[in-house]
Amino acid sequence: MKTIFSGVQPTGVITLGNYLGAFKQFPKFQDEGNAIYCIVDQHAITVQQDPKELQENIRKLAATYLATGIDPNKSTLFIQSEVPAHAQAGWMMQCVASMGELERMTQFKDKSTGKESVNAALLTYPPLMAADILLYNTTIVPVGEDQKQHLELTRDLAERFNKRYGKTLVVPEIYLPKEGARIKSLQEPTKKMSKSDPNTKATIKLLDTPKQIEKKIKSAVTDSEGIVTFDAENKPGVANLLTIESAISGVAIDDLVAKYAGLGYGAFKAGVAEAVIADLTPVQERFNELIDSPELDRILDEGAEKANAIASATVKRMERAMGLGRQR
Ligand code: AMP
Ligand code: TRP
Repeated sequence: MKTIFSGVQPTGVITLGNYLGAFKQFPKFQDEGNAIYCIVDQHAITVQQDPKELQENIRKLAATYLATGIDPNKSTLFIQSEVPAHAQAGWMMQCVASMGELERMTQFKDKSTGKESVNAALLTYPPLMAADILLYNTTIVPVGEDQKQHLELTRDLAERFNKRYGKTLVVPEIYLPKEGARIKSLQEPTKKMSKSDPNTKATIKLLDTPKQIEKKIKSAVTDSEGIVTFDAENKPGVANLLTIESAISGVAIDDLVAKYAGLGYGAFKAGVAEAVIADLTPVQERFNELIDSPELDRILDEGAEKANAIASATVKRMERAMGLGRQR
């Protein structure tokens, strides 16, 4: 039996990159095994958050998981801080990790270089992520490519724990989507599409209106060749738009290249925009129904209860293995 676990931070808007790299992948796992999805609010506070905004973002993220296809009858959806085992196991994993390996994480380097002072938790973020995953005896972790290094560390920490304290933890595998693992900025197609990009034309947001989506895709940076072919190195803008349409529609890139053969970038961009809008419209409708509904709270309550039952049993096993507390 497979166990699938993934987490997303409730920090601000959700982008088309998040959607294609993460959310769109999630529903298919519901029929493959035990699927568990987490709103990692404790990870979010590694960078200072406004408490009121964090509350809103937690709710928005829960609605996004559900609107993009998570079925609470098949999957478990919960908030990290509502299951105390995450903080408990996170501490144990910090005691297994070394400073050197944490300092080598590119996400830590990106978020800390040039800053005079950063929170200690920005460094110890990966052991908490490892704990998230390991608590559920996870076998598969679907994430975007930017999380690959954290997943490799999770595997190393699990193996080290097992070697030191006896076989306790399951070592998980990463799952990267075929298309959509790395969606690029519409304005600088060599950079990743990011929610923190100051250029608003660079990023499509999940809740953008059809007009906004059309405008952003029309003004996406391409090249002056006017021929739609996939060449990530020399034509990164066109390659990115092809990747977006392929990830959204499930149509292979080669077939899209054939579809746009002989047509200019105008028709190409219109086609990409049409595919994005058609896919996002029902997601937005469902999101708006859910965001203020009591149904959302009921789902999160049930999710926390189910997650707690599994995670607290793993924490007990880990404590027993390490010799913590009284061994009864
Ligand atoms: P974040 O918003 O960085 O917390 O990421 C949430 C999820 O979205 C993770 O699984 C990321 O790997 C994925 N993700 C974020 N940005 C992108 C992107 N530009 N392309 C593909 N996946 C992404
Ligand atoms: N670190 C991930 C990100 O920034 C979020 C995350 C936290 C996560 N815990 C996780 C992803 C466990 C997968 C599994 O996107």
